[in-house]
Amino acid sequence: MTHDLGRLRSKGTNLMPKTVGILTGGGDCPGLNAVIRAVVRRADALEYQVTGILEGWRGLLENKTEPLDLMSVSGIIHRGGTILRTSRTNPFKHPGGLEKIQANLQSLGLDSLIAVGGDDTMSVADALCHKGVHVVGVPKTIDNDLNGTDYCFGFDTAVNIATEAIDRLHTTAEAHNRVMIVEVMGRDTGWIAVASGLAGGADLILIPEKPVDFDQVCEVVRKRLERGKMFSIIVVAEGAKIPVAAQGPTQVEQGKLKDEFGHAQLGGVGSILAREVESRLGLDTRVVVLGHIQRGGSPTAFDRILATRFGVAAMNLVHRGEFGKMVALQGNQIVAIPMAEATKGPRRVDEELYNTASVFFG
Ligand code: F6P
Repeated sequence: MTHDLGRLRSKGTNLMPKTVGILTGGGDCPGLNAVIRAVVRRADALEYQVTGILEGWRGLLENKTEPLDLMSVSGIIHRGGTILRTSRTNPFKHPGGLEKIQANLQSLGLDSLIAVGGDDTMSVADALCHKGVHVVGVPKTIDNDLNGTDYCFGFDTAVNIATEAIDRLHTTAEAHNRVMIVEVMGRDTGWIAVASGLAGGADLILIPEKPVDFDQVCEVVRKRLERGKMFSIIVVAEGAKIPVAAQGPTQVEQGKLKDEFGHAQLGGVGSILAREVESRLGLDTRVVVLGHIQRGGSPTAFDRILATRFGVAAMNLVHRGEFGKMVALQGNQIVAIPMAEATKGPRRVDEELYNTASVFFG
């Protein structure tokens, strides 16, 4: 790690510059680069040196870092992914992980840390805070289900991508008299499914909060046929639970492997649903799994603005010494909440929103 001490001196700071590290953890998300840019820009104005920690918590376990300055964050506001890269590394699963992180932060000369991530990242950040590490959190997940914040950046982009896909699938579903099943992301909650399904005019939306009822699914399609609607669009969240004998509502996993935070890779509920609809109704049915396309590409203007507001607010918290907090959007205001709040999730889909969407089922 090399920093331009000459530049700091010329700015009038002493030889002990204030320092902050930043990392991005968990799944990538459109808007991460906008947060990094905002933190670095605000930090520069407040005369901090910024160190980028690479690949989430792995970077702090293995000392993978790089200095960040105004040049490093130039021209990245519109770019998806994260210039710091990311990982699902869980320090709790590495012997002495938290202590190693503490020691490495000290050897890197970092006074404080901004952790950008979801509930998993916040759980580690919160544990570090309890050990006396100066951490501030920034909420991130395209699933939009982090507790304590009304919105996470990345969600709006994902919803727009899924809505465009549904629009496109409408025309082909209609042309072929098909049932089209669109599987979207949403591990524990159905925010993306409900928002994109509502915007895209889906005929049914299935989410993790409401166990799937195959009879209801077929009833919706049948009613549409009776009305002369020869096609149907069903949006299903990957985490939606299907009935499994002796097990009850169950999520569909792709394999047995789990990540270090204990999450299975979900996917496949759409295909099971398609087989069920096909065999019960004898209708031509197709499945489209949007997957990581929803996390790719350029963030929407909404996400860039939210990410930028979060980044500036997080750096302001660091400067004011308000550690152990996470920035959040409540209503239209950026606020700071105790980091532990974020881990009390997930924040389920709003009933009013779901009920509005359900008016259009069938
Ligand atoms: O938590 C965000 C999310 O996009 C989930 O919707 C999804 O289940 C998961 O990440 C996928 O993660 P990965 O990138 O590890 O496949």
